[in-house]
This record gives sequence, structure tokens and C-alpha cells, in this order.
Amino acid sequence: MKTYIVGNWKLNFTVGEASIYLHKLLKTLPNYRDIEVVVAPSTIALQPLSLQVDRHKIKLGAQNAFYRDYGAFTGETSFSQLRGIADYVIVGHSERRYIFGENDKMIQKKVAAAIRNKIMPILCIGETESERAFGETTDVIRDQLIGGLTDVADDDLSKVIIAYEPVWAISSTKAAKLATPDEIAEVVKLIRKTLADIYGEKKSENVPILFGGSVGSANAGAYLTIPGVNGLLIGGASLILSEFVDIIDTAKRVRS
Ligand code: PGA
Repeated sequence: MKTYIVGNWKLNFTVGEASIYLHKLLKTLPNYRDIEVVVAPSTIALQPLSLQVDRHKIKLGAQNAFYRDYGAFTGETSFSQLRGIADYVIVGHSERRYIFGENDKMIQKKVAAAIRNKIMPILCIGETESERAFGETTDVIRDQLIGGLTDVADDDLSKVIIAYEPVWAISSTKAAKLATPDEIAEVVKLIRKTLADIYGEKKSENVPILFGGSVGSANAGAYLTIPGVNGLLIGGASLILSEFVDIIDTAKRVRS
């Protein structure tokens, strides 16, 4: 399995800034065949960047899209409009869940719409600080995972990536704490087991599971060596080119 290094730029960079960043990243980055590097800019930058990107080196991800293909949905962009432009899409990010009120039902439809449009969903799941404090982590993870994958048929599981992002570890959270490798390993095991219960062991083993939450060049190596972790979803640190490149180089080193 490849190692996935995904930069979630969130609401940052103008189209021009995004283009300059991509230009520099393309120039700096060797062609690492076993590392899948993905950047997820704002929707408005996706189309111009898709003309600029060299897909042998870098893939593009969307941060969100709407599950209906067309119609009276003011302000939305559909997965079908992103088809051929974005290779991946982040679905169910905690900022979408808690700031924009997305629930598992909507997320389930988004995962299905992404697959239908040949865009690989990166389904984000993770417990809040109080859910963890109340001992609800297992239930929350199971519910979000099963909820998000409800419409994913057995044969389509290979088209899905899961990202475990404990909400309390995300850098935009007020009191963000670093998740420890043990805490992450335990939840990753639970995710793999839940997938195995639904889809069978063999299929579950091939699903990439990423970790996200205050990942930077200083801790990327430790997180990438956690058993069962196949990559990283990076917010803040991905906005700094040198940091992002360091993380990609670390991924390469960890693999070899
Ligand atoms: P962070 O964000 O790396 O800034 O914590 C991760 C994310 O929200 O995907």
C-alpha cells in the first residue's frame, strides 16, 4: 500500500498563492512512487490547479462537495462537477460536522456520490474531547464509520480512505493536545476491526487509514510508524511548503 500524505489547506490561499505553492512543490518534489502526495485547496482553485499539476507527482483533493449532481442547490458544487478535476475529496471533516452541521446521513450520501463520480473519499471520523472523557470514543468511531459507509458496497470499499482525526488534537481546536501513538494505535485497531466485521478481514486490510491532528515535521515520523497507520492528513503544517516537504521526505525515509 502507498503512504498517503494529504495537505488540507482549509480556507487559506488565494488562487494565485495556491498556484505558486503548487509550482514550488512540483519543482522540489522528486517522483516518489510509493508516496501519494495530495493537496486539497479551496474549490475555486481546483480547476486552475488541475491544469497545472503533474499527476505523476501530486494529486488534487477537494475539501467538500455536494451529493446531488445538479439542481436547485444555491452555492453548492457537485461531485460530478469535480469529476476529472479532483482525485480525492475530504468528507466528514470535523469542521464540516461541527461548524456546518453535517451529519452522518449527509456524509453517507457524499461518500457514495464521490465514489459514483470516481473521486476517492477520505472519510474523516473522530471523537471530541468530551466524548473521550465520557468513555464514548468506541461508540462514536463505530457510529461515524458505519454511518459514513452505509451506501458503500463490498466491491467499493477499495475506493475509500479513512482518516482518524480526534477533534481535540486538531490545531484549530482551542486546547489542542497531541495524540499519543498509543491512543492512535488503539483507535486505528478499532477502525480496522469494525471494517473487518462489515466487509471481511481481507478487504479491511487494504483500506488506507490516515491520522490527522496537529501533525508536523517533528512528529510525522512517530505517527507514521504506528502499526496500521498508512498516512497523514495535515492542516496547519501543510500551509508551510518546507514543513510539508519535510513530512513527505520523512514518509519516504520511514518506508525505506
Ligand atoms: P491540523 O489539521 O493539522 O492543523 O491539526 C488537521 C485537519 O483538520 O485535517
